[in-house]
Amino acid sequence: MVAAEYHPPWFSIAPMMELTNNHYRTIARLISKHAWLYTEMLAAETIVYQKDNLDRFLAFPSDQHPIVLQIGGNHLENLATAAKLARSYGYDEINFNCGCPSPKVAGEACFSVSLMLDPEFVAKAMSVIAANSDVPVSVKCRIGVDNHDSYNELCNFIYKVSSMSPTRHFIIHSRKALLNGISPAENRRIPPLRYEYFYALLRDFPDLRLTINGGITTIEAVNAALKAGAHGVMMGRAAYNNPWQTLGHVDAAVYGVPGKGMTRRQILEAYQQYADSVMGTWGCNKPSLRDLAKPMLGLFHSEPRCGLWKRHVDAAFSDCKTMKSLLEKTLPVMPDYVLDKAPMPLTPSSKDSFTSIHDLLPAPYAAPAPKPEMAL
Ligand SMILES: Cc1cc2nc3c(=O)[nH]c(=O)nc-3n(C[C@H](O)[C@H](O)[C@H](O)COP(=O)(O)O)c2cc1C
Repeated sequence: MVAAEYHPPWFSIAPMMELTNNHYRTIARLISKHAWLYTEMLAAETIVYQKDNLDRFLAFPSDQHPIVLQIGGNHLENLATAAKLARSYGYDEINFNCGCPSPKVAGEACFSVSLMLDPEFVAKAMSVIAANSDVPVSVKCRIGVDNHDSYNELCNFIYKVSSMSPTRHFIIHSRKALLNGISPAENRRIPPLRYEYFYALLRDFPDLRLTINGGITTIEAVNAALKAGAHGVMMGRAAYNNPWQTLGHVDAAVYGVPGKGMTRRQILEAYQQYADSVMGTWGCNKPSLRDLAKPMLGLFHSEPRCGLWKRHVDAAFSDCKTMKSLLEKTLPVMPDYVLDKAPMPLTPSSKDSFTSIHDLLPAPYAAPAPKPEMAL
């Protein structure tokens, strides 16, 4: 599919292991109709080895569209099979993870961000994924790894992957990864954000679609990044930790259409129906009430009595067996005005991280000249 036909999401919620599961995505979709949702990363091997149990890993309610499946791996045959097995679930895009620095995946197993050092392999992986799926494919990566952190090296990666595979959409987590033993959480904090690399990619690869990610925590910043030219903005931790104040503005402020207009009281009523319908469906009491409660705990971020409510929820796990009873027991501690109010209005500021970004761009990339044909 050519870039001109494929418009990536203006706003998406980042793939986050253990967080962006069906439960969180249900809440996210209740708040925003238009945000694109990403699954947690699923290893291709999990899909292949669990092929008789795939619904548990791949099924999602139909109202979660648009939704992207993120897969990871370094074995071409398994990536091909995983893409094929996922096909019937109807994801809107398949994303390949080249950005995770966890020692479990980037170390010994040598996939995810380590693959940025092997763009030829990533191109092959993207080609087999695309050949086995009927939707667009994309790559999520960092801006570099360890000392391989020059703008030129990043461009070589993007150039090779995009010229040797059907990949036209890249999501750029705009900090490098350090594989020297710091934790994944530190790897999302310590390496500095270099948005200038992202905006230079926009300049140097005008035929690609590029989504910026990393450190964007407000809808004001999302709109500033789009205004500076980003095709899409992906938000991770802020969309999980503070979904109401972030996702609650996406439809109106990013997409320019009326929001869903549900209050948090109504969102929790709808989520309760979902939660009670799926509780225990995987056997052994999984998902549990605790699993299902986890993604709703950010809904009252920074509101009066939020801490008190969370303590009541924690205490209620001992005697509540359903989400209905848990909410009936705990929600009375929240003031009615909090349960029924809209998100706080946005406050656009005159200065943001993107205002002068175009003054900071590295020198333009010169793609390698094509090799002359070998004389016969
Ligand atoms: C708990 C957690 C799990 C993550 N899991 C994944 C993952 O499965 N795949 C991936 O590509 N990135 C993963 N990430 C990285 C995020 O997708 C995102 O790139 C990163 O958090 C930076 O965006 P942010 O500053 O908006 O949070 C994870 C991040 C967190 C906090």
